Amino acid sequence: MTEQYGKWSKEELIAEMKRMKKRKKFGLVWEDKPEDVAELCKTKLPVLVDIEKKEISENPHGPTNILIEGDNYHALSVLNYTHKDKIDVIYIDPPYNTGNASWRYNNKIVDAEDSFKHSKFISFLERRLKLAKSLLSPKGILVLTIDDYEIHTCRLLLDEIFGENNRLGTVVIVHNPRGRNDDRYFATMHEYALFYAKNAQFAEIKKFEFNDESLLEQFPHKDSISRYGIVSFMRTGNNSDRHTRPNLFYPIYWNGKTLSLKRTDDAVKILPINEKGEEKTWRWSQETFLERIKTDILVKSVKEKIRLFKKRRPEIVGGTKPKTLWYDPRYDASSHGVVLLDRLFKRRGIFPYPKSLYAVLDTLKIASYKDSIVLDFFAGSGTTGHAVLLLNKEDKGERRFILCTNNENKIAEDVCYPRIKQVIKGNKDYSYITGIPANLKYFRTDFVNADPTDKNKKNLTEKATAMLCIKEGTFEKMMNKKVFKIYKNNNHYTGIIFDQMAIPAFKEAIAKLKGKFSIYIFSLSDDSFEDEFEDVKQKVKISPIPEVILRVYRRIFK
Ligand SMILES: C[S@@+](CC[C@H](N)C(=O)[O-])C[C@H]1O[C@@H](n2cnc3c(N)ncnc32)[C@H](O)[C@@H]1O
Repeated sequence: MTEQYGKWSKEELIAEMKRMKKRKKFGLVWEDKPEDVAELCKTKLPVLVDIEKKEISENPHGPTNILIEGDNYHALSVLNYTHKDKIDVIYIDPPYNTGNASWRYNNKIVDAEDSFKHSKFISFLERRLKLAKSLLSPKGILVLTIDDYEIHTCRLLLDEIFGENNRLGTVVIVHNPRGRNDDRYFATMHEYALFYAKNAQFAEIKKFEFNDESLLEQFPHKDSISRYGIVSFMRTGNNSDRHTRPNLFYPIYWNGKTLSLKRTDDAVKILPINEKGEEKTWRWSQETFLERIKTDILVKSVKEKIRLFKKRRPEIVGGTKPKTLWYDPRYDASSHGVVLLDRLFKRRGIFPYPKSLYAVLDTLKIASYKDSIVLDFFAGSGTTGHAVLLLNKEDKGERRFILCTNNENKIAEDVCYPRIKQVIKGNKDYSYITGIPANLKYFRTDFVNADPTDKNKKNLTEKATAMLCIKEGTFEKMMNKKVFKIYKNNNHYTGIIFDQMAIPAFKEAIAKLKGKFSIYIFSLSDDSFEDEFEDVKQKVKISPIPEVILRVYRRIFK
């Protein structure tokens, strides 16, 4: 409706102007569409239920990976009280909202005709990305893959949530080298991977290791130290002018046999001046030049002029900086995704949209550390879990994964879980990418009602225990009393006390156990219980129960 400003009073017009000034001027504007699962998570306590029969234990000394079946808003809410600030890499491949493929919003398929399809998609993603951001560690990185349908909205949305300064890069991945022939005008070959940091100051994108081919190509020569390539000792490009770094502009003397910084009568003077006569700089200071003159500087006559070169060595360069175009048969989502799944499962049509295993593997190579926790909350067929284990096998890493997928078309139960099981237990036809011993726990999303009934009391006690074990990564049951429970892993124990009167009995139980304890004490008061544990404080750390769980506990038990 057009406003009839002509009829408005002066005061009304001033108020309208103020309102308009406050309105957003640049960025994404959409109609927020409320979502059922988010509303439910506000009134009930979202929790995870351990599906014990699906547990896999194949690496007694290794960490435990997690697969969560359910809606990822729910899962992310739970992870916010178990893994806040703990995740180093989030890799997600949300539905592409193309209109053809079905994705559901509030349990209804969003199709090409839905006039709110973009608004629903952005509302859906925004809610999840905000929860996801608070899971990232200070050096954490989020990677989101998307194609042309929503790249523009995703980039603006991520810029808003993470800040433009934390955008690390946008990579184009050629995932369909043949091109999609049924596209109307252009045969699409690529999709995008958007890389964002929680804080670009602390995030690191690593280099790809040189492979045999790139070593020979980039470092064709060899001396007694290592292979090397050659680059001009005169700097070019950014910051290469004399006035920006005056101390790197100095004369070098060549007497036909040796280089020196000291002038002699028989020597020619060489300055960093290019063919256009522009005054540039050398690459190193005089001190570094003197240190490395014998091993790393070469003198050549080029077009009858003496020119200086420096040796470029692989161990100093450290690898290849990832480029923004990834075009390699390894990234083909058909051969290393669809066909790979069909072969692992020995039947066709397992899942139409898996990523190439190697596209995810390479992403993790440059974005993760060897001990990172990697999260994928649109896990689908579980490629990210597969890539985490394969990369651990390749570089002896100890990364862990947390995967979450809904169970649309039974993808969690019939594809993701059995795939990870094969990767862990082995498939003899694919021994190079399977048979990687690891542990897995399978959880399903659930809620605990917050009304004070006996059923809810029991339910909360059980489920809160599972949540605290996920938080601590301790899943082996040691003691299971009504008033306290003890769990362990290789490194430490978790003790959960449900009645403060049981503290003496608990202390007696742990006296015989060697190792460190994290302890959680449910109580209606705000007592810290430090005094009760004063005598064992070397062994015990009292940890606060996540606020959300405590609030529901107090509502149910008061
Ligand atoms: C594009 S696929 C991801 C494929 C995955 N990267 C792979 O390689 O197999 C997106 C997946 O997200 C799942 N999904 C969609 N909405 C979800 C939600 N709200 N919560 C959890 N999973 C969801 C879908 O079932 C689908 O399997």
